[in-house]
Amino acid sequence: MMRHLTGIIAGLGAVVFCALASCTAEPDLGDFSVSPLPKSVTLTGGKPFVFGPGVSISAPEELMITADILAKDLKEATGRELRLTGGRGKISLSTDPSLPEEGYRIECGKDGIKITGGSVKGVFYGTRTLYKALPVPCGKRPALPAASVEDAPAYSYRGFMVDVSRHFFGVEYLEKLLDVMALHNINVFHWHLTDDQGWRIPIEGYPRLTEVGSYRSGTILEPGSDKYDTIPVQGFYTREEMERVARYAADRQITVIPEIDMPGHMLSALASYPQLGCTGGPYEVPRQFGVFEDVLCPGKDEALDFAKAVLRELVDIFPSEYIHLGGDECPKERWGKCPDCQARIRNLGLKDIPGKSKENQLQTWFMGQMQDFLRENGRKMIGWDEILEGTPDKDVTVFAWTSPDAIARSAKEGHPTVACPIQHLYFSNPRINKLTGRESLSRVYDFDIVPESLSVEERGNIIGAEGCIWTEWVADEAKMEWEMLPRVSALAELQWGSERDLDAFLPRLKKMTLLYDRLGLNWKEDIAEAFE
Ligand code: ACM
Ligand code: ZN
Repeated sequence: MMRHLTGIIAGLGAVVFCALASCTAEPDLGDFSVSPLPKSVTLTGGKPFVFGPGVSISAPEELMITADILAKDLKEATGRELRLTGGRGKISLSTDPSLPEEGYRIECGKDGIKITGGSVKGVFYGTRTLYKALPVPCGKRPALPAASVEDAPAYSYRGFMVDVSRHFFGVEYLEKLLDVMALHNINVFHWHLTDDQGWRIPIEGYPRLTEVGSYRSGTILEPGSDKYDTIPVQGFYTREEMERVARYAADRQITVIPEIDMPGHMLSALASYPQLGCTGGPYEVPRQFGVFEDVLCPGKDEALDFAKAVLRELVDIFPSEYIHLGGDECPKERWGKCPDCQARIRNLGLKDIPGKSKENQLQTWFMGQMQDFLRENGRKMIGWDEILEGTPDKDVTVFAWTSPDAIARSAKEGHPTVACPIQHLYFSNPRINKLTGRESLSRVYDFDIVPESLSVEERGNIIGAEGCIWTEWVADEAKMEWEMLPRVSALAELQWGSERDLDAFLPRLKKMTLLYDRLGLNWKEDIAEAFE
């Protein structure tokens, strides 16, 4: 009994000592100079805010989802449970429409932290900055300096693309990727849903798309090889799953823009419905990668009906204003020989003109039909920059992927333009990915998305930038994260318009990698060479 009591007393003593020690210990101070770097951070000189017990978050109804996400993140960081309240809280969230829509202000002092955003979006970005500002590791007494932060992004389009055709990733994992995007203030998830090697979305009236098109029997082992594995790659999303992803994203201020790549990159659809191609097949879902001559036949009304049925489904599921219709890498050999395509060309009166063959114009006509359909349904079209080979309407948004020159061309031609050139913003290209360390970072970080050759007015056409992960050689989650991280942080600074200085960025990035480690994310470890 006595021994037992002594144990209790000693235990109580230890608790009291620890509590006192932790109250008097120096706080672990964080830093508001996070990545992407805010526009301005001013240290105001008072005592820091310490995350003690019982910190609560107050927010009006419209900000409760944001407050809830913040509470979960702060619990992840500090281990403390935070209470949400409609009344007064140590951390308070509110909106002020006089601020820029995606902008925010943080006022941090010893008595509390106030985040004010121009809208729910702005408040959300303020909460991202707060979370990233905490020290990593958080320590026993995490604290934030007395400071005032003013911030707003330079670009309205801050995207990240994931290809789920070449390899399939389930919705739970996509939600994890959406969290990573949100952490980097990315506001568009461009969901590349179909390609030659796999069709991932059910379309009413076309059951074979998921029965046949969503399956391939194996995959080429490496670029240029003639060896294949026999591991099937398969999967598609149900409508409920896609709606769930769109909602999860929306809670994090991310819009999902779905892409159905057409009229090229459609072998998985042709394998399912051979009558949609020029030759009638047979076709199969390919196990190798590249650009294939067999594409959708715009000479056949049935192919147009199919494409519209696909768009109808997208419009039904996804609320986004924009729908991406691809339009890239569509060889015209089959169309040149196809009686149906040639009949369509004659009926439309298309003629070769310098720089634009009649088959290029047939593609423009086809894309125009799809654009009209989207417009009738209140949506707008996006295409990759090959659509400039035709004469797309000026309100079509162009994703300039082939080169930085394509950014200039698209912006000069008056299109809203998203910069995503393969040379800088493709994260998964095996050739370019050979870069390591600082060079690998610099390829992204030091890229200017606005070409110098543009006039002030043309510059205004550049609405933002996007990073892309194509999954030919990305078969699993570890590789996905390794491709994405930590360069997504460099991308985020371009997209946000942070003042860029690679040397000054490195300590911010190093802190991000500590955060990735804590969150159990894989990152491209050779980049750590740059920290030395
Ligand atoms: C693309 O990389 N083919 C858009
Ligand atoms: Zn044809």
